[in-house]
Amino acid sequence: EKVVLAYSGGLDTSVILKWLEVEKGYDVIAVCVDVGQKEEYSDIWKKALKTGAKKAYIVDVKEEFVKNYLYKGIKAGAIYEDDYLLGTSFARPLIAKKLVEIAKIEGASAIAHGATGKGNDQVRFEAGIKALSPELKIIAPWREWNLKSREDCIEYAKENNISLTVTKKNIYSRDENLWHISHEGGNLEDPWNIHSEDVYKWCVSPEKGQDEVEEISLTFESGLPIKINGISYSPVDLIYKLNEIGSKHGVGIIDIVENRLVGMKSRGVYETPGGTIIYEAHKSLEKLVLDRQTLSFKKQVSQKYADLVYDGLWFSPLKEAIDSFIDSTQENVTGEVKLKLYKGKCTSIATKSMYSLYSEEYVTFGEDEVYNQKDAEGFINLFTLPLKIKAILNNNLNEN
Ligand code: ARG
Ligand code: SIN
Repeated sequence: EKVVLAYSGGLDTSVILKWLEVEKGYDVIAVCVDVGQKEEYSDIWKKALKTGAKKAYIVDVKEEFVKNYLYKGIKAGAIYEDDYLLGTSFARPLIAKKLVEIAKIEGASAIAHGATGKGNDQVRFEAGIKALSPELKIIAPWREWNLKSREDCIEYAKENNISLTVTKKNIYSRDENLWHISHEGGNLEDPWNIHSEDVYKWCVSPEKGQDEVEEISLTFESGLPIKINGISYSPVDLIYKLNEIGSKHGVGIIDIVENRLVGMKSRGVYETPGGTIIYEAHKSLEKLVLDRQTLSFKKQVSQKYADLVYDGLWFSPLKEAIDSFIDSTQENVTGEVKLKLYKGKCTSIATKSMYSLYSEEYVTFGEDEVYNQKDAEGFINLFTLPLKIKAILNNNLNEN
């Protein structure tokens, strides 16, 4: 029988690979999904086969990741608990989809992953698999075997001749893709510990950002970023480029305590430089082109959307329905935004759009033809009528 394993080349999934073969008697198909994490993929491929995989796949899904996942998040403006740009959450359902596709091709009966029994990722992987291919058996070794720690894994690896070359002391649990890199565990587990700047993998610390202010412009078409400083980039390259720009300024670093779906709070540091720039610009452009009602309703919807994404409900009817609503709000989110980057901050400083609802003519305090100031009096009378009625009632009650 065959099992498809989500394989990263790291210690944990190498041990899992061996374990599936030795303890469970499976033929293992190792699948490493490239969502933009910088890796030596040919080494990972070789290591999988050396560790005992019958076959190994490297699947590059970067473009699909941006177009079908990140783009939806950008249009929605999805942010979990006010801060988290959902880097890991966006990637998991896509990885699940690829595992399912390969399980079909290979005629595998099971899928295995290396997420622990305490986190969100197990839920996201498995929700994706169940939504797409409910007949597949799911194996989560961390919930099943007797290995309890990294030390146990190293022990198991030594006993089974798994090469430990890539196992420099990794103090943090990290997850990297095009959109972000996350850091959890180690000394971050005490929320009173101030994180040190050697946590960072992509960014300089905000204080060490370049001393000159950098001004950039981002051009959007129907809610999506297409140009930086007037130059077009492919979807994937645009995000890499903004990561490069943002990281020199330490833009997009957050350090938060979040609520995991499985019940406990956890503390993490996240670097999302490019994403932070895009979100900031997108938000400003929406303020220019969306009417007040749409803007405020979208804000509520976007919060719900972020929860769905965080909770692994990517392939769900509500998520799909919200996507349709979001798409309809984005038709006119076309235009250009200027931003200023400096020492950890990214601020939008100017906006323009052919669909701008902003009218200098209406807002100016000078003479104009469209707004008659006398109209305001009647408007205020009706708008404040409930206040007046209440005040009159209060007065009457006090008199009696
Ligand atoms: N806490 C974040 C989330 O749930 C990041 C998870 C990172 N996952 C990992 N396997 N290191 O989305
Ligand atoms: C894990 O437990 O595998 C990582 C953390 C998470 O999924 O939330």
